[in-house]
Amino acid sequence: MSSVDSKLYQYAVREAKEAVALDNQGKYRQAMNKYFRAADILMQFMKYNKNPQMRTLCKKNIEEYLERAKVLKSHLSGTKPRRARPAERSSVSKDEAGAESGIEAVSSEEQELLDMISGTIVTESPNVKWNDIAGLQNVKQALREAIVLPIAKPELFTGARRPWSGILLFGPPGCGKTLLAKAAATECKATFFSASSADLLSKWLGESEKLISGLFKIARLKAPSLIFMDEIDAVATKRGEGAESGGERRVKTQLLSEIQGLKSTHDKPLLVLGATNRPWDIDTAMLSRFEKRVHVPLPDLKARAGIFRIHTEGVDSILTDEDFVELAVRTEIYSGRDIANVCREVIMLPVRELDMSGLLEDSSKEVKVRDITLKDFKNALKKVKPMTTKVLLRQYNDWAEEFGE
Ligand SMILES: Nc1ncnc2c1ncn2[C@@H]1O[C@H](COP(=O)(O)OP(=O)(O)OP(=O)(O)O)[C@@H](O)[C@H]1O
Ligand SMILES: [Mg+2]
Repeated sequence: MSSVDSKLYQYAVREAKEAVALDNQGKYRQAMNKYFRAADILMQFMKYNKNPQMRTLCKKNIEEYLERAKVLKSHLSGTKPRRARPAERSSVSKDEAGAESGIEAVSSEEQELLDMISGTIVTESPNVKWNDIAGLQNVKQALREAIVLPIAKPELFTGARRPWSGILLFGPPGCGKTLLAKAAATECKATFFSASSADLLSKWLGESEKLISGLFKIARLKAPSLIFMDEIDAVATKRGEGAESGGERRVKTQLLSEIQGLKSTHDKPLLVLGATNRPWDIDTAMLSRFEKRVHVPLPDLKARAGIFRIHTEGVDSILTDEDFVELAVRTEIYSGRDIANVCREVIMLPVRELDMSGLLEDSSKEVKVRDITLKDFKNALKKVKPMTTKVLLRQYNDWAEEFGE
């Protein structure tokens, strides 16, 4: 097995083990989700692994997991919502809802919903600060106005001054969209729900729709809430384009109606934040739900110097302020991710040198890791090239001009 498929396999095994454990504890909804997930991962694994014995084993396991999941499903749909035990309740409200300690009791309805979305939708608070993101001052300000203030100071947003309910971040890959969403979530202290659209789709047909309606329901119950839908182009492709399956179409329609029906009142703010690096693929109906569209462009000179700093923090170096500026000058159309990759490459160099010289083998010897230098960066820049092209950039700018704010 290659390392990728062996990881997938181990992942599936882990999910299945957890499913069985949850099943034994009577946490049926969570167990069902885990069984589905384990089967899902094994199916993906089978796309890569052609070993016949392995495939037979996988098929058998998939069948077993699906069988058990179906039993649980019909059991769950036939019973009244299960009331969670008190100990279980408070632990779930903290760990899974990411709620502040003020919220303790979770009603059985909330519990059911939380159980259902766990596994696909992440609800823990990310720990990204504005300062971890270099540059993008305008974007940060826009997000403060659109997300942080309406949630922190809802009394300012009454009457005609109502907050935008849908906000879309768009721009080239690796420029901080996901990072910004996380920082906004940390800052506004709302309950944060994060769902990758690809994940929503890869769920079982029928499950996706329930998942989405569950997500919006619990977000309403737990308002103020911020729902982050990353890579929204995956579920919101233009109608009729490409091979769209019936399932995908249903998911899209449902998402549309949920966002449409979003009623964010000033005492219960509920915002949807989408992110995409393919804005032109988004269905116009979906696009119109995102009233505010914010362009997250490639980092400018000052931001690039800042990104180099952030990603070499805590590492011994002899770089001066001028060196950071020189690096920024040399990396004109590099994205934040490209620069982070350059830094990772450079940071590893001194360690790799030590390793190759055999100095790391003798554990009794104390080794000194050398400082990183400007020359290291220049060498790395020859290897790590930017992922964005000028042609692509023009496409973002054109789109921003036509549909951005
Ligand atoms: N302005 C920035 N400051 C610091 N680091 C950055 C910045 N922009 C990007 N990065 C680095 O690049 C990585 C990728 O950024 P992020 O995931 O936010 O990109 P994205 O815009 O969501 O990309 P994609 O469209 O591919 O999802 C980050 O984890 C971070 O390490
Ligand atoms: Mg992203």
